[in-house]
Amino acid sequence: MRGFYALLCTLGFTIFCPSDIDKAREKGIRWLLKDRNEDWGWGMRSEGEAIMALQLADGDGWYNSKRPSTVASVKEMNLVLLAAISNYPGLDTAAWYGGKLGQFINGLVSTCQDPANFYDHNLIELLMNQMNNFPKYYFNQNFAYSWAVLALCNSGAINETYYERLVDGAGNYTFGVDEAAISVIALSCVRNRTGAADVIPAINTGIQYILTNIKPDGSFGNQYTTGLAVQALYADNKSSRKQIKKKAQLTLVAHQQPDGSFGGVTAANQVLPALAGKSYADLGDIKICQKTTPPVTTTQAPPTTTTTPTQLTFTIQVVANIEGHSENQSYYVTVPIGSSLYDSMEILQKRVSDFSFKAKDTSLGHYITEINGISEDPDKRTYWQILKAPDTPLQVGVDGYIPKPRDVIIFRLSTY
Ligand SMILES: *[C@@H]1O[C@H](CO)[C@@H](O)[C@H](O)[C@H]1NC(C)=O
Ligand SMILES: *[C@@H]1O[C@H](CO)[C@@H](O)[C@H](O)[C@H]1NC(C)=O
Ligand SMILES: *[C@@H]1O[C@H](CO)[C@@H](O)[C@H](O)[C@H]1NC(C)=O
Ligand SMILES: *[C@@H]1O[C@H](CO)[C@@H](O)[C@H](O)[C@H]1NC(C)=O
Ligand SMILES: *[C@@H]1O[C@H](CO)[C@@H](O)[C@H](O)[C@H]1NC(C)=O
Repeated sequence: MRGFYALLCTLGFTIFCPSDIDKAREKGIRWLLKDRNEDWGWGMRSEGEAIMALQLADGDGWYNSKRPSTVASVKEMNLVLLAAISNYPGLDTAAWYGGKLGQFINGLVSTCQDPANFYDHNLIELLMNQMNNFPKYYFNQNFAYSWAVLALCNSGAINETYYERLVDGAGNYTFGVDEAAISVIALSCVRNRTGAADVIPAINTGIQYILTNIKPDGSFGNQYTTGLAVQALYADNKSSRKQIKKKAQLTLVAHQQPDGSFGGVTAANQVLPALAGKSYADLGDIKICQKTTPPVTTTQAPPTTTTTPTQLTFTIQVVANIEGHSENQSYYVTVPIGSSLYDSMEILQKRVSDFSFKAKDTSLGHYITEINGISEDPDKRTYWQILKAPDTPLQVGVDGYIPKPRDVIIFRLSTY
């Protein structure tokens, strides 16, 4: 189709002509693909950044399990990470700590892979463990920490414990606009995905900081900073501040080198999504991963064949803050694809000691009567309401609902 529109464009139908921004983005993608080494990677542990950029910059996503050159690069990303894990258990090394692991997890999620089950390694647990040990190595400032928050958020595994550092740090941006921007991107992901309202003031603080640092030419500094700032503005709100975003994008276009480069893989990672009107907070929503795409994951390393994923991960949240209760727990649960919500709850109950529930069998299927020892109470007219985050009541029961990757399902003690 692209060729057809190009033809219409040359015939003078200007409505079909790509804009300067689109042309720069496509040229940037071609540069990034040409920059691959003989292993189909980019070297220097930059595969995560390169693949994220391609997934965000190229329409519905660049990776396609039927296109060998894309599969080869994704496998190379996996192999680089696997080699690191076998050399440094727990990735307890400066080169892989925190932010770098966060980038690779984002790369995995963006290519439809499950970081909780990466060749039998649970990278989510590993990253949470590193976040619990903050600060360590270079993982000692909120810029790197934001990459970790993004990784958990895009994987559907974020909760307050892991993002509150960014809320507390809002306004105190050691690295200026760069830090404000990546913090806004990470917290926008949390807001849109979990409905958490406590992140909104921190997002607004970051946006104000970015806007007060706008330069006379419409940029926010060099191409790295401008790329991140534009991403932050899109992450906060796709449809506002359109002129500011466009002007900043045009300064990025002006900065592109004749070969299509913006200065390296990291620059491409920060600039290309911005030219596409996307941000890192979109990595959990890559279109191609919404369909049933066979990913590159296999159960053995090194990978040689492709298989369909067998598991998915989502979040169950239990909230009871009425009638004297103060329960607010999040659980991150991995289940075979196609499991019902009820089956998932049974799996979770077996797996963790602090989640339990009771249900009764009715003609309409299972009905949840008690969670974590808190029972519904007909006298007080309380019951366990089931919502999809932030606040959409489920239209079917626990037997009928089939969780999707990265869902957040809330059980909330409510009154009728
Ligand atoms: C600002 O951030 C720096 C670096 O993280 C930290 O050392 C400092 O204590 C913070 N200042 C305030 C006022 O929170
Ligand atoms: C429960 O905790 C989450 C964060 O983990 C927070 O976003 C939410 O507002 C809390 N809900 C209540 C009712 O306290
Ligand atoms: C979050 O939602 C708002 C409102 O729909 C949208 O404008 C914004 O771009 C979204 N951001 C992300 C990261 O999804
Ligand atoms: C995004 O911006 C548009 C246009 O300024 C505004 O109407 C809308 O309410 C904003 N959305 C959010 C979620 O802030
Ligand atoms: C967040 O998740 C972690 C790991 O699952 C858990 O230990 C922690 O208690 C959770 N925090 C909140 C506020 O739910």
